[in-house]
Amino acid sequence: MINWILVVAIVGLLILVVLLGLKLRAMGRRLGQVIRDLGQLKKDHRAGVKDSRADQWEHYRQGETFAQLVTLLKITAPIPPTRKWAASPDLLLTLVEMVQKHQPKLIVELGSGISTLALAKSLLPGSQTRIISFDHSEEYAQATRDLLIQHSITGVEIRVAPIEQYDSERTWYSKEFFKDLADIDMLVIDGPPGAQDPQARSSAQIELGSRLSKNAIVVIDDANRKGEHAMAESFAREMPGHALVFLAHEKGTALIAPQIM
Ligand SMILES: C[S@@+](CC[C@H](N)C(=O)[O-])C[C@H]1O[C@@H](n2cnc3c(N)ncnc32)[C@H](O)[C@@H]1O
Repeated sequence: MINWILVVAIVGLLILVVLLGLKLRAMGRRLGQVIRDLGQLKKDHRAGVKDSRADQWEHYRQGETFAQLVTLLKITAPIPPTRKWAASPDLLLTLVEMVQKHQPKLIVELGSGISTLALAKSLLPGSQTRIISFDHSEEYAQATRDLLIQHSITGVEIRVAPIEQYDSERTWYSKEFFKDLADIDMLVIDGPPGAQDPQARSSAQIELGSRLSKNAIVVIDDANRKGEHAMAESFAREMPGHALVFLAHEKGTALIAPQIM
């Protein structure tokens, strides 16, 4: 009888030990998962902190540049927001520098907006420089005209050229609106909108490359994007005596300018 009780007790104990072992194994697995999740969380946190620091630095840098622009351009009336759709302050400052340094006689811009104001305000009083800024949208063209009026700027032409099929693969501004252009000294490419289509701006070179003057400057916004980056390289290949630099701007700026001898 005592033997039977002992056997039952031992079997019961063994079952208990096995169940406990299984439980412990499951807990061990869960603990392992928790440790892995914590490790991932730590990595994500570090990456988040790094991104946030980079964002803060970018905001500071743009703010610092914007302050310079307001002073340099003597801005005395309200201006629309920069960045996102509009040019970022770093690009605007480069436009100002290029106009002041090279004194272009004909500036052509694709994609009007606050950049048009910056170009116009960079000119010296009484300057004979012509600025023609293209926009595909009558609405945004009018907004730029209104902005220029608010800042007492006259003589800038805002030309509306609707988007149409350019070839079997691409759309671009209607070509006929560019026919009268020759000897462009400064070409600024920030249109048509190109976020969805890497080819959206590539026709600029075919249409305007041969209309540039010998010492022309080409400034391309959004050069961090593949399409604009490739277009800048392609432009530069056709511009002897010029150097291409990619400026580490918020959206990337490609600058093609005559080489200094
Ligand atoms: C990249 S934007 C040009 C921005 C311009 N260079 C500037 O600095 O303000 C290209 C085109 O997008 C259009 N556009 C401007 N602001 C927009 C907005 N908030 N939403 C949609 N399209 C916009 C205009 O037709 C403009 O020509």
